[in-house]
Amino acid sequence: MGNEESSPVDESVLPRTLSGRTLEALAEYMKSGKASKIVVMTGAGISTSAGIPDFRSPETGLYANLARLNLPYAEAVFDIAYFRENPEPFYALAHELYPGKFRPTITHSFIRLLQDKGLLLKLFTQNIDCLEREAGVDDDKIIEAHGSFARQSCIDCNQPYPEEEIKRHIENKEIPRCHHCKGLVKPEIVFFGEKMPATFFQNQSLPMQADLCIVMGTSLTVQPFASLPGMTREQTPRVLINKERVGGIGSGSDDVLILGDCDEGVKRLAEACGWLEELEALWAKTVPKVATDLGKPAEVVKKDKDEALDDEINKLTKEIDETLSLSKWHEEKVRSEAIPASSGNGTLNKASGSGIAVSVARPHENSGGNLDHVYGKQTTAQTLASEGLASEENEKQSGAAAQEGDNKN
Ligand code: OAD
Repeated sequence: MGNEESSPVDESVLPRTLSGRTLEALAEYMKSGKASKIVVMTGAGISTSAGIPDFRSPETGLYANLARLNLPYAEAVFDIAYFRENPEPFYALAHELYPGKFRPTITHSFIRLLQDKGLLLKLFTQNIDCLEREAGVDDDKIIEAHGSFARQSCIDCNQPYPEEEIKRHIENKEIPRCHHCKGLVKPEIVFFGEKMPATFFQNQSLPMQADLCIVMGTSLTVQPFASLPGMTREQTPRVLINKERVGGIGSGSDDVLILGDCDEGVKRLAEACGWLEELEALWAKTVPKVATDLGKPAEVVKKDKDEALDDEINKLTKEIDETLSLSKWHEEKVRSEAIPASSGNGTLNKASGSGIAVSVARPHENSGGNLDHVYGKQTTAQTLASEGLASEENEKQSGAAAQEGDNKN
């Protein structure tokens, strides 16, 4: 799935900064105080254990599962041209993914721990779930490269839209409309065909200042984000904590691979640094308040334990019912409005149920625009050129290859 074209570092190549390309050597470096400016780069894989699917994992990934809804192609759900004509699939998905239902993972808390220790230079995330914020990472430390659910506005006049109102609409499965111009409102998630946030470009050279780069839970297939790990200096250690090897990480002299589940990986790293207790304590604080004795809303505190348990069960049952009926509702809705795709060229040329003819290019066929949220292999060069990220490859060429440290997988 990931971009793995570079060769792993040759074992004969000595690391330049670390004492070895192992988790222990990395922990030693972190404990020594030499890693005081850490950049973290994350993707959907850090939220899968919270119950949010990633995008590209076969079978469990979001794109594999949206295909059954007869979208012209899975990524259409995040395509601005498609959204203009048919916002319903996105809003059906938003109903399922809207922040507030998910607990941050211990990996999110690990990033918070780095912040608390004064070591976090910046977090670059591709995620839209806001779980870093929920884990307590400060706004000014986060670059949401693909936007997020944190703000919403009209796609025509750009007027901000009130959070409480969009929440209500999403909850009720209704499509919000701008109060000023009646245009469609959408969370400020960067869709295919839309510009990435200015803060991304303002900060994209920060990795050059970093003394450690941690990449977690991403396939590094979407540019220009995928180029970030290659922006670090050659002697800067990079660690990949991911189920699979991606992005050529492992080809640098100081690259460390911790392959496998990222929650397990960060726990092992925290333990090697002597921070595991602190990490677990931080993560414990992310338990939703309603499920703990401390900080319960007043009316919940009054209830006895059995009542509270009944409430929890009812709440869960309701959520499951809603999810099931949503899936059914959505499936019926999309099926009833299904637009037959043309003969495989990615263009829709038949009217939807609303009678509107649409023509939608696949993301990698979008010639226009800024960044287009481009998928790596087809258009990397074009994207890099248009955004001034002019290196030919997005990975380090410092020679050589990776090693697996003491990886489990
Ligand atoms: P992907 O789904 O492309 O990649 C997720 C990566 O995380 C894969 O390499 C998985 O193997 C790995 N992974 C999954 N679960 C894991 C776990 N528990 N522990 C460790 N690794 C795990 O997701 P992204 O790289 O985030 O854009 O995708 C990038 C962008 O593509 C997204 O931001 C999204 C999408 O189009 C939007 O438009 C919103």
